[in-house]
Formats: sequence, C-alpha cells, structure tokens
Amino acid sequence: MSSNTHLNPAVFYDLLSAEYDSMTDYEKRFVKDQDTFKAFIERFDIVSAVDAGTGTGFHALLLARLGVDVTAVDISGEMLRKCEENATTLGVRVKTLQSDFAHIPALVTQSFDAVLCLGNSLAHILTNEALSDSLAAFRKILKKDGILILQILNYDKILRERHRVQQIRRAGSKTFIRFYDYCGDRLFFNILSVHEDSPTPAHTIQTVELHPYTADELKPFLRNAGFGEIRIYGDLRFTEYSGDYSRDIVIIARSNS
Ligand SMILES: C[S@@+](CC[C@H](N)C(=O)[O-])C[C@H]1O[C@@H](n2cnc3c(N)ncnc32)[C@H](O)[C@@H]1O
Repeated sequence: MSSNTHLNPAVFYDLLSAEYDSMTDYEKRFVKDQDTFKAFIERFDIVSAVDAGTGTGFHALLLARLGVDVTAVDISGEMLRKCEENATTLGVRVKTLQSDFAHIPALVTQSFDAVLCLGNSLAHILTNEALSDSLAAFRKILKKDGILILQILNYDKILRERHRVQQIRRAGSKTFIRFYDYCGDRLFFNILSVHEDSPTPAHTIQTVELHPYTADELKPFLRNAGFGEIRIYGDLRFTEYSGDYSRDIVIIARSNS
C-alpha cells in the first residue's frame, strides 16, 4: 500500500471536492447520460427520488433537469456545497441533505419513487452491519413498489485482473491517476494528483478503503432489507451483466412493502 494513511469517505471527498468535476469530466457525462436517465424516468415512472452519495450532484441535477423532485444526499459537506453551486449554474433546484445512508430516514418526511446510489458510492460501505443499515434505510424511504438503482464497479473483473492503474486523466495542468492497492482481502483506492503549473511538479495523494462488492454478495443483503425482483445488469442501459466483461454492476430492486 502507499505510505499515506487512508481517510474516511467524508474527509476523502471534502478534500477532492474542488477537483472532482474536472477529474470526472462532468460536462461530457451530462451529454452522454441524459437519454439514459430519461428512459429510467419513463420506465419506472419516477416523479420523486433520492440520489444517495450524490457527490457534486451529477445524477441529481440530471434528474432535476428532467423534472424529477430530487433530494441529493451525501456524507461530505464540501461535495454537497459543489452540488449546490452546480445547481445554481444550471438553474435547477435540488434539496440537499448531509447524512450518511443509514440516517436518511430520520431526516426526511416524504417517501420516494426511487433511490439511486450510483457512481460506486456503495463501495464505501465497509461492514456487513453498515451495508444492512444502509439498504434498510433506502427501503424505508421508498414508496411501496418503489425502486432502488445501485451502480458499482464490476469487482468480479477488477479482483481477477488486479490491474493497479484504473485511469489516467489530464485536465488542464493537472493529471489525475486513479489506482488501487490490493492488500489481502482489503482494497484501497488512491488518487494521485500531479500539478504541473510550476517548474517543479507538485503532487498530492489521497487514499480511501473500498469494499469490492460482487453481485452475488449483495443479493442476500437486498432480500433481507425487504427488496424483491432483484435484477442485475452490466450498465445503466440494461445490457446483460458479464462478470468477465462488464464495466459495472447495476442492480435494480423493487421495495416489497
Ligand atoms: C465516487 S463518489 C460518487 C458521486 C456521484 N454519485 C457520482 O457518480 O459522481 C461517492 C460519493 O459517496 C459519498 N459517500 C460515501 N459514503 C457515504 C455514506 N455512507 N453516506 C452518504 N454518502 C456517502 C461520498 O462522500 C462521495 O461523494
């Protein structure tokens, strides 16, 4: 593992918030995903939704632009602040709520047609107990027959291939290198940011632990939390899931009660 100590997700994302949108190519993502989310809204009749682990609000703002009443939730106050700035820039309205997944029911009064937990946010939940509490919380705030949409990376593939470098991305004078440390059965995710705007390049490195969930591992937790009709796909366009080839695991589950 890198010599840095790993951070809890709230601190990791607070520190990353200023650079997150350039690192993930926010504007390109908007154009790419608009039609996908339009199809989601129509297919599942979504009028209200929670975006859990919203980050800088990418999916929340996409849904709000399409007319959905969205509550954007995140544990990182700085990511939520960026989400609010992005909402102002785009001229859309979202409610923001700083909370971890498990405590959302205590902080909202309405129930929702959909809960989204996208962009690998669930991988930050490290223990069985926290996973059970998070999924139970998602179920609790859904209407009867409401849907949960989860998206994590395909860890079946990642753990088999064990590639260390996941992505290198340049944005202006900065380069972001995302890479893993595989430590026994633990997985650490690092972001090395190299800043080349001075004669001697400077760098920062941040590390957070992830839990590499597989689809099979998540299914019993979803059932115990009160979800049925659990379907697994390889992406948000409902492509068939392949442990060998899919980039993502997308799980769509319906609340039983
Ligand atoms: C990889 S980012 C994804 C952000 C956004 N969904 C996207 O796709 O761009 C993960 C987000 O989940 C949030 N997060 C991690 N653990 C959380 C928890 N237990 N409760 C609420 N938010 C959490 C982090 O603060 C971070 O903003």
